[in-house]
Amino acid sequence: MTDIRPILYLSRLLPDPVMAIVRERFQLVQYPHDTLPAPSVLREGLCQADAAIVTLGDRIDAETIHAATRLKILANYAVGHNNIDLAAARQRGLTVTNTPDVLTDATADLTWALLLATARRVVEGDALIRSGRWTGWSPTQLLGADVSGKTLGIIGMGRIGQAVARRAVGFRMPVRYHTRQPLATSSLSREWEHRSLRDLLGEADVVTIHVPLTPATQHLIGARELAWMRPTAYLINTARGPIIDEWALADALKLGIIAGAGLDVYEREPAIHSAMAQLKQVVLLPHLGSATLHARVQMGLVCLENIHAVLDGRPAPNHVH
Ligand code: GLV
Ligand code: GLV
Repeated sequence: MTDIRPILYLSRLLPDPVMAIVRERFQLVQYPHDTLPAPSVLREGLCQADAAIVTLGDRIDAETIHAATRLKILANYAVGHNNIDLAAARQRGLTVTNTPDVLTDATADLTWALLLATARRVVEGDALIRSGRWTGWSPTQLLGADVSGKTLGIIGMGRIGQAVARRAVGFRMPVRYHTRQPLATSSLSREWEHRSLRDLLGEADVVTIHVPLTPATQHLIGARELAWMRPTAYLINTARGPIIDEWALADALKLGIIAGAGLDVYEREPAIHSAMAQLKQVVLLPHLGSATLHARVQMGLVCLENIHAVLDGRPAPNHVH
């Protein structure tokens, strides 16, 4: 009997509950690995498939999109979609979808984990114990900065920015936010005040970034913007690396222009600026924003829902335009 199931290209291994559904409902171009495919392998896979699930490390350019003539949908296993040439997809009539909402809480939680770990020197504390050099409690040991009651500055107030802001209530942190246009007051807490980027950077004790990466947000934070920040302030980034000029940030940290940084994303992942790992006032995470089992399973289910819709001739619920 011939297999009439649609052909799926999956660029990475996904969590087991998602793989179980995938294996049942699709023919796979090839069984995925847990590593990023080489560009030629990626392109070959996309060219054979009716539908594909790709990840944020897969760069999908116009040439690949035009070569993959059989492909009807590219489901990006992420909320960000800066890895895909959307203009080329639109031109070729290829549907691109993302996975909003299901990773909002996981990413907002991780943002707070990074914020607290940076201000309270959590990673240095863990390293001290593991080094075997901890000699006991001391009034002057690993003193960090207060978080409660300090001013939180949020750049970008989409789903994730707002979820981060809601969590600030428990820390009694006044929230200032920057977006190009102030958001409609009906959709926002009245406590959240809009600021220009410059005013926000000058006022906040902690600045956290939640904008997508676009040409307009690339290097939104560079040497000039870092200089607008307070020398006691912390910068947190769980959005996309290229929003910060990483070289300017390394300089600002070395010179004490800001107090510290918590980073989950980098300009040239998985490479990082060589100075970063030497700086104690920086906490470095390996792009863990959405990394909970629940969120990663839900992201897979959202990809599959979009794929089924498109293959059945229905509109994709998470079509990105
Ligand atoms: C992760 O970085 C995402 O965009 O989902
Ligand atoms: C992500 O879901 C965002 O809009 O911030």
